[in-house]
Amino acid sequence: MEKRKVRFEVYRYDPSKDTHPRYESYEVTVLKGMTVLEVLQFIKDNYAPDLSFRAYCRSAICGSCAVKINGYPKLACKTQVLREVEIYQTDTLRIEPLDNMKVIKDLIVDWDEPFEKLEKVKPYLVPNPEVVPDTLDKESRISPEQHKKYDRFTDCIMCTACYSACTAATYDENYAGPFQLARLYRFAVDPRDGIQEERARIGFLYDMWNCVRCEKCADICPKHVSPVNGVLGLRGIAVNSGDNTPGSRHVRAFYKSLLESGN
Ligand code: FES
Repeated sequence: MEKRKVRFEVYRYDPSKDTHPRYESYEVTVLKGMTVLEVLQFIKDNYAPDLSFRAYCRSAICGSCAVKINGYPKLACKTQVLREVEIYQTDTLRIEPLDNMKVIKDLIVDWDEPFEKLEKVKPYLVPNPEVVPDTLDKESRISPEQHKKYDRFTDCIMCTACYSACTAATYDENYAGPFQLARLYRFAVDPRDGIQEERARIGFLYDMWNCVRCEKCADICPKHVSPVNGVLGLRGIAVNSGDNTPGSRHVRAFYKSLLESGN
């Protein structure tokens, strides 16, 4: 079976003891198919019992194991080491905590901020009484076409990899974040939702117009959700609803200019 020695430079930092973060180096013989998560567990079992990282499902479902692998946010349980070695043409992989969140210890980051922001955008269905029956005996059906509008966004596992890669989240404390806005959009286009119009307004309150469309969130999402499309969808809803906030006016001005002058 294919195997290879790989060096792992792992970010180590315990804010309760350390004045600065450091990288510790561990050499591991990796077998074909081994994931980064398996290597982290191997390091913990054999070299560094105090190494901290999160992981629960080991199946790319719970979203807890996201870390940066050579600078790129990925799920440790889904990422095979030898493939990374091939991609980067190196025998050294650097494993670090995600960005845009405070480090609690080693590879564990504090999720409070992104999830408090998620809560602010009402990431749940607010039933429209005209569409959703108030008894469980009756169904609230939607068509496949309606479902298609938000289907992709329901695949989000909230691993926060997109939040880590988001430049708007780095520079704007009020910016809700990519997966949060994608979740907001998911309900904004759900025909059963009772506050659809308010949702674009919520997006405005949490700076959806500050997304610069770098598309890094789409690039790194391990579930191919492409949160930026949710942000753009919300902006579209705002513009089409006659919203008069600066972002919508900006879009309308460009559109008018395009129609009238071709520029
Ligand atoms: Fe659950 Fe990796 S351990 S997604």
